[in-house]
Amino acid sequence: MALVALWLFLNSPPPDARSPGSADVGGPFSLVDQTGARVTQENFRGRYMFIYFGYTFCPDVCPAELQTMSRALDLLDAKTAARIQPLFFTVDPERDTVEILADYMGHFHPSFRGLTGTKEEVKAAAQSYRVYFARAEDESATDYLMEHSSIIYVMGPDGRFVNHFPYGTSPEEMAAKLEEWVK
Ligand code: NI
Repeated sequence: MALVALWLFLNSPPPDARSPGSADVGGPFSLVDQTGARVTQENFRGRYMFIYFGYTFCPDVCPAELQTMSRALDLLDAKTAARIQPLFFTVDPERDTVEILADYMGHFHPSFRGLTGTKEEVKAAAQSYRVYFARAEDESATDYLMEHSSIIYVMGPDGRFVNHFPYGTSPEEMAAKLEEWVK
């Protein structure tokens, strides 16, 4: 897609995320983490979920955003950081196996958990978080790209939407907001 279209796409939050605190974003999910353990939203009750959807083969946006989130976590005081669970949800379950995720998550903050599942499980999770994704090339290509929304969500200890970070937020800005939002 053209650069301008891509820029607009990356910078538009889902319609329901425009008014922080009132957004109907999030919901139940059941996926498998990079150790092969089954996890649902219930595993994270009582903690803040710091969420990004993407895919490990992403050449630029995903690794940059995951680095930003990792850096923000490093900037937090230990007490705040301990209340936050960073989560990477794949939108590409066909290539993002448990093994691939295990290797990939090693590049980011050690508390990150990468989540994958069946195509249906991944689709259901993306839908509840209003994340758009689609394969950018035809089905036969093995080296395909995925188009996807790039939004970082913060969900509260009750699993409800707290706020989001748009694409391009700096680690410093992110850490400052997290200190404010995480109680
Ligand atoms: Ni990406």
